[in-house]
Amino acid sequence: FCMGVVVQAQKPISPHLFGIFFEDINYAADGGLYAELIQNRSFEYSASDKRDWNPLTAWQFTREGFSYGTISIETSTPVHPNNPHYVVLTIEEVGREGVGLNNTGFDGIAIKAGEQYDFSLFAKQLTANAIPVSVQLKGRQGNLSNEVTINSDSKDWKKYSATLTATQTDDSAMLVIVAKGTGKIALDMISLFPQRTFKNRPNGLRADLAQTIADLQPKFMRFPGGCLVHGDGLGNMYQWKQTIGPVEQRVEQRNIWSYHQSVGLGYFEYFQFCEDMGAIPLPVVAAGVSCQNSGGTWRIGGTGQKGLSIEDMKTYIQDILDLIEWANGAPTTTWGAKRAAAGHPGPFHLKYIGIGNEDKITPVFKERFKMIYDVVHAKHPEITIIGTVGPFHSGEDYDLGWNFANEVKVEMVDEHYYEKPEWFVSNLTRYDTYSRAHSKVYVGEYAAHDVKRRNTLRSALAEALYMTSLERNGDVVLFASYAPLLGRRGHTQWNPNLIYFTGTQICPTINYYAQKLFANNEGDVYYPNVISAKVADTAKTFAASCVTDSKTGDLILKIVNRDSVGMAAKINLGSMGAFNANASVTVLSGDPDAENSCAGSQNIQPQTSKLTVNKSFTYQAPANSLTVIRIHTR
Ligand code: AHR
Repeated sequence: FCMGVVVQAQKPISPHLFGIFFEDINYAADGGLYAELIQNRSFEYSASDKRDWNPLTAWQFTREGFSYGTISIETSTPVHPNNPHYVVLTIEEVGREGVGLNNTGFDGIAIKAGEQYDFSLFAKQLTANAIPVSVQLKGRQGNLSNEVTINSDSKDWKKYSATLTATQTDDSAMLVIVAKGTGKIALDMISLFPQRTFKNRPNGLRADLAQTIADLQPKFMRFPGGCLVHGDGLGNMYQWKQTIGPVEQRVEQRNIWSYHQSVGLGYFEYFQFCEDMGAIPLPVVAAGVSCQNSGGTWRIGGTGQKGLSIEDMKTYIQDILDLIEWANGAPTTTWGAKRAAAGHPGPFHLKYIGIGNEDKITPVFKERFKMIYDVVHAKHPEITIIGTVGPFHSGEDYDLGWNFANEVKVEMVDEHYYEKPEWFVSNLTRYDTYSRAHSKVYVGEYAAHDVKRRNTLRSALAEALYMTSLERNGDVVLFASYAPLLGRRGHTQWNPNLIYFTGTQICPTINYYAQKLFANNEGDVYYPNVISAKVADTAKTFAASCVTDSKTGDLILKIVNRDSVGMAAKINLGSMGAFNANASVTVLSGDPDAENSCAGSQNIQPQTSKLTVNKSFTYQAPANSLTVIRIHTR
């Protein structure tokens, strides 16, 4: 009997091992988790986002029924200098239907009968007579909501709000805005949110998608990436300060995945989501270099550099210190006051910060990382800094990352691997011999990439097998997150992802259920030698782990069988003290080649039933399965 690696003694492990990696890739934020239903609400889309995009992308100008007028995009007197573009409607003849604008959201606006929607816009009258503006949701068949009239009367920008109630369910509605008078009117920040967002937060998150994420019970949430952290040139490095405050004052920018970031889901919304889920915030900031030190420009710096100039680094490091003050500082501090003004006087309890993402370990990187590290470490010894070991996970370049981490004595390092299922299966001992004297590990991005990058059960079981090894090494691997998290169908730049979605559907993959089984069943003490099976050590088809959770007192067994036949797992609970014989058993199993679609009936999902357990018993693990047995001791 064997179970791969034998660890001699029980040991405390990370109580927050399994969390999530969020990056605005595949429309994860705008058109995804961020509940805004209007696409390009601020007319800031441009050709730098995507070749054929412009400020009117996703908008249609309408002047039907003998109405005459023109539309223009202007920048001379914006709502805020950070948000320069706005639309001006010049109405010469109102006609039967008026002059206006339609927006079809992201692949159509999905609405539900009876649900209420918060509409708002900024308007400014540019001519003497006040022009009323009507607003309504419409579909191919006609009206889909009540019609409201905004009687904008101000010669300065002013925000107006109204509530629309959907009269029918429709997944491809459009928002129709019509000016009902002659003259000129300027409009900007045309917005529509479902009133029901996750936890009913204003400027909030899409409830069904956020709930699916929260159901994972992630112990931490990484944000904002990924490569998005540092951009593909210093010019679009993610700058947290530009993502907080009133949405009309945030600085939008090109998304490196070739679309647009409204940053409506910015740092405040991120920290609030962490709090709402009970997850540790784990922000990652750039190490002062662009993506893999590729070069570019920055707001305060030179051009074409691979990293910020040493002079610019001072400002940049101050930005990072300000982030810590914004998250944790008292409302009397400069940045703590901004958090309080946004409605959160208490601290967000930031304890970890990542510096760098997959950066090549070059002299340019090292110098800048060290500058940031030294200052943050000295000023905030209470914050754990997570470094990076670069884009590689083997070979000389990989060693460079580890050598540098050891040299600097970085508390924790982030390493990534996207590999075939077989790689995970062959690397189960990766951390067994890892020096406990070196940096702790955050497996910040990983996924088993099966043929054609499909989310098969085969890939999920390879990840599950590997996750048992992360639990076994949970004394040194403190965090792990599958990546990427989200993908909007029809808008993916990357596959596979953990959760797919459309405007109306949420489609969790089999990999999602494997992650959920691990994250919902975490423990804080690992017990070796509890589970064994008669299988050759080289077969790589079986792995198991046993943990206890001090919060609930529960004893949790995880058993992975990748074989095409059932496997008898021998379980010995002789040394585990008293427990309740009535346990629950949850099994994820099926055809290894299967993947979940959005049609629920074909989906592989965990099935839970009862199981009677004894001090010593045999569990028959089904072919191609992940099993979690949960046993109460209280
Ligand atoms: O997860 C997708 C990308 O993969 C991330 O942006 C990057 O860090 C990695 O290369």
